[in-house]
Amino acid sequence: MIVGILGLGYWGPNLVRNFLAQSEVSKVIGCDLRPERLKFISERYPSVHLLNDSNELMNGEADIIVIATPVKTHYEAAKKALENGKHIWVEKPFTSTTAEAEELISIADRKNLKIFVDHTFIYNGAVRKMKELVEANELGNVIYFDSERINLGLFQKDVNVIWDLAPHDLSIMNYILPDHEIMAVSANGIANYNGRENLAHLCIHFKENTFAHFHVNWVSPVKIRRMIVGGDKKMLVYDDMENFEKIKVYNSGVDFNTTESIHEALVQYRIGDMFSPKVSQVEALALGAKEFITAIQENRQPLTNGKDGLDVVKILEASDKSLKNNGEIIELKSTILV
Ligand SMILES: NC(=O)c1ccc[n+]([C@@H]2O[C@H](COP(=O)([O-])OP(=O)(O)OC[C@H]3O[C@@H](n4cnc5c(N)ncnc54)[C@H](O)[C@@H]3O)[C@@H](O)[C@H]2O)c1
Repeated sequence: MIVGILGLGYWGPNLVRNFLAQSEVSKVIGCDLRPERLKFISERYPSVHLLNDSNELMNGEADIIVIATPVKTHYEAAKKALENGKHIWVEKPFTSTTAEAEELISIADRKNLKIFVDHTFIYNGAVRKMKELVEANELGNVIYFDSERINLGLFQKDVNVIWDLAPHDLSIMNYILPDHEIMAVSANGIANYNGRENLAHLCIHFKENTFAHFHVNWVSPVKIRRMIVGGDKKMLVYDDMENFEKIKVYNSGVDFNTTESIHEALVQYRIGDMFSPKVSQVEALALGAKEFITAIQENRQPLTNGKDGLDVVKILEASDKSLKNNGEIIELKSTILV
């Protein structure tokens, strides 16, 4: 297979490295408008063919076009690639609007082309372990999901911090809680520098008695990437900054006992053992690239496809509406496409 990679900025070189390493890939073509990025790739990966004109890439021999340009440009590039008969890999977040995502999904369906949305964390060993534990009912019913992703981060020019960072956490939440129904979204944040929020809190309200909260921030003095999944049996902490014990499962919780005689709830805290399961350390992008190539060969949808991208964009779009209205609760009809 021949893979064309559009956008060789911050993230593009990781895609180049991982596609070059796939045995099914016979050629990688890279494309960027900036000569310095072409020079950067040619020095590190001399076998990559380089172009500075995206039309040449779109009309050329690539079977797959990987889109790693700024978010606002995803839709146009993705549409052009699909219309030229290419399978597409699109970086997160998939598109800038739900309408764009829906249109791309329908073009791909009509032409039997595959869309892979790079929700990288779905291929991360710790996230896979979390899903395994939740599916095995190790935590009991999930009652909350609390996530923090903060750093002195790279400001994006075209999107705010929710659109930049929350897709990671939202895709993890959707992956871990596939049967939970999202009813509404609310968000608050502040824009101190360029008119785009650099710190935000996003809340997801489910039909089930479950709640999710995401704190994202580009202006934090410390880097935190931590998630707590609270169950009514056990609770789990995923700390991506830990080198080894990335996941810890705590046999802790709260039990309520009501006694009929006094009609009072008695709260009992349960603090038990903690265990840290082993997680795979294989690079997520390598597994993502493999999954996409295999899905194309098997003519099936990849694990993170256009619909998964759309589900995340629906939440992001609602978050914009809520931010504009001081945290108004925005109802979502359903995140499930039929
Ligand atoms: N999956 C992840 O973990 C992850 C991590 C970082 C970024 N991303 C995503 O990757 C995408 C790119 O982010 P980035 O931080 O690398 O941005 P960036 O600005 O560093 O790089 C984008 C590159 O695209 C090039 N470009 C733009 N328009 C072009 C065109 N028409 N033709 C050719 N080249 C063009 C620019 O010159 C630039 O070099 C975004 O969607 C971002 O959200 C994903």
